[in-house]
Amino acid sequence: MPEAELPEALRAQIARSTVALSLATADAPDMPLCLANDAFFRLSGYDADAVHGRNCRFLRTPDTPPEQVREMTRFLHADDRDDGRFPVLNRTRQGRVFTNLVFMSKLRGQDGRVRFVIASQFDQSVADRATAQRQNDAALTRSVGDLRVAAAQFGLILSDTSALLARSVSTLARIAVRDE
Ligand SMILES: Cc1cc2nc3c(=O)[nH]c(=O)nc-3n(C[C@H](O)[C@H](O)[C@H](O)COP(=O)(O)O)c2cc1C
Repeated sequence: MPEAELPEALRAQIARSTVALSLATADAPDMPLCLANDAFFRLSGYDADAVHGRNCRFLRTPDTPPEQVREMTRFLHADDRDDGRFPVLNRTRQGRVFTNLVFMSKLRGQDGRVRFVIASQFDQSVADRATAQRQNDAALTRSVGDLRVAAAQFGLILSDTSALLARSVSTLARIAVRDE
């Protein structure tokens, strides 16, 4: 689906978010990206022209462990789970290798068919990872909540991912306490 045909409210929410977001259309073969925001472009080093219409696997490196890829493939093709988080070895356009924690959630139409997949990328290779990820996850929780409201206006259902994100936040809080 070309960007112009995306519901405007959804497009605006994605553009506004401070966390890296990308949206793929599930109607076209191989789930091409149809939208990404500035935070995604900053994180990956790619611009809009370089990502639109491409499957996001271009961020992989030749050294990305196959089991990391398999987890995402399984999630995207299975119908029993609508959201998840996947650590995967990625590489920016400039060649910097980093561990990307990819959050993905499926957007379904009223008929239950998956129409889009929304994803958020987080660079885990940053200094003070626990603090950075806590801040990222708080902003991601807000963005996903706003997106759910915007999507619902167009009959698109985004599952309630807050439990998954809250679990991630509390896991990180425990890691931070252990690190101190
Ligand atoms: C919206 C969306 C965003 C994605 N973002 C990333 C990403 O940042 N990094 C990555 O390695 N894979 C990402 N993926 C997963 C890949 O595109 C691909 O589906 C996955 O690696 C499975 O590989 P396969 O399609 O070759 O089986 C994303 C997928 C979708 C639908």
